[in-house]
Amino acid sequence: MFVVVGVSGGIAAYKTVHLVRRLIADGHEVHVVPTDDALRFVGLTTWEAISRSPVTTSVHDDVATVRHVSLGQRADLVIVAPATANTLAKMAAGLAGDLLGTTLLATTAPVVVAPAMHTEMWRHPATAANVATLRERGVAVVGPDDGPLTGGDSGPGRMSEPDAIADAAYAAAAGEPTGDLAGLRVVVTAGGTREPIDPVRYLGNRSSGRQGAALAAAAADRGADVTLIACNIDASVLAEMPRGVSVARAGTALELRDATRAAASGADVVVMAAAVADYRPAEVAEGKVTKEEAGDRLTLVLVENPDIVAGLAADRAEGQMIVAFAAETASGDDLLARARRKRERKGVDLLVVNRVGWERGFDVPDNRVTVIDRTGEPVAEAEGPKRTVADAIWRAVRDARA
Ligand code: CTP
Repeated sequence: MFVVVGVSGGIAAYKTVHLVRRLIADGHEVHVVPTDDALRFVGLTTWEAISRSPVTTSVHDDVATVRHVSLGQRADLVIVAPATANTLAKMAAGLAGDLLGTTLLATTAPVVVAPAMHTEMWRHPATAANVATLRERGVAVVGPDDGPLTGGDSGPGRMSEPDAIADAAYAAAAGEPTGDLAGLRVVVTAGGTREPIDPVRYLGNRSSGRQGAALAAAAADRGADVTLIACNIDASVLAEMPRGVSVARAGTALELRDATRAAASGADVVVMAAAVADYRPAEVAEGKVTKEEAGDRLTLVLVENPDIVAGLAADRAEGQMIVAFAAETASGDDLLARARRKRERKGVDLLVVNRVGWERGFDVPDNRVTVIDRTGEPVAEAEGPKRTVADAIWRAVRDARA
């Protein structure tokens, strides 16, 4: 293949040297296009020596061969590693101020980016919007990983390892889904059930479905084939679902059970993020319950709903992974002890514990969770925007399946 490797100005550029070596070792023709800033980290001589081809950053070099577009036209695959926040922004805007910019605009080849930056920059809404735009255009995004960053910081933002980038790039070039969940069928339930009392009233809960929706979007971005079963989720929350997510709807716990059972057959992973009513009214009134009939005291008789996730876990096929959520108002050791009992009771592989309260967990953009596995030990902790938490949960699922 004719592979263009764009390099932007981040310290992770040193790891891209290994990426280029791997591509050369695999028998590809590689042309490196660094930005001027990238050359402050790794010099031109290194890129030329390692890629065995001439390297320039300028659209004014080699004009006779119309280099500013010819690299992009000839490319079978374009990789940008590291992709800094600045380069992602330029790509999203379609800026063509340097050779990398013109190459990216001139190519119709698959494009793979490996972001690298500090966690704050990665989480910034501007970066998130740029990455979403690029994904929408079909750009494959590899990483970033969660780990040590420059200067002693640690968190999501570390560039993926060269082999992971190469593998994802080859998959993209072959038209296959990329990402660490590629090829997996995933079911996510989200939102809260509503149990009717009469034609106009229901028993519900405060779940907005945002965490579940973020889980579905993150799984699709990581290459999974996703079914999202949405329980009473606002259309605005569902509006931003990426391609690769098919949405089904359920209203009550019994509807959710049936929809989830159907979707779970053949799925590799089921994540029950929906808040399910534990009880439903024993009888649904035909007409509106009125004060005239009920007087100053109304008694509702409730019956228990089936435990959907426990049922799924009991009936699961070999190799299927079941993940439950636990909304808890307890804290500290008590929280973990309750979570362990709940995981055992439900028989699930992973339990995502999140603390909820009057001001916590619901209708707020951020969340904080601990994931425990079958041993009862915490295997992941995450805090921040619900999308960040979603990515951490999928990393824990991926690792638990390995
Ligand atoms: N769940 C379920 N079916 C139910 C109730 C809950 O599948 N009838 C699932 C939820 O989707 C979640 C997990 O079980 O993944 C834990 O829900 P939670 O409300 O925290 O637990 P409960 O079993 O209801 O226990 P309790 O409310 O007593 O803490």
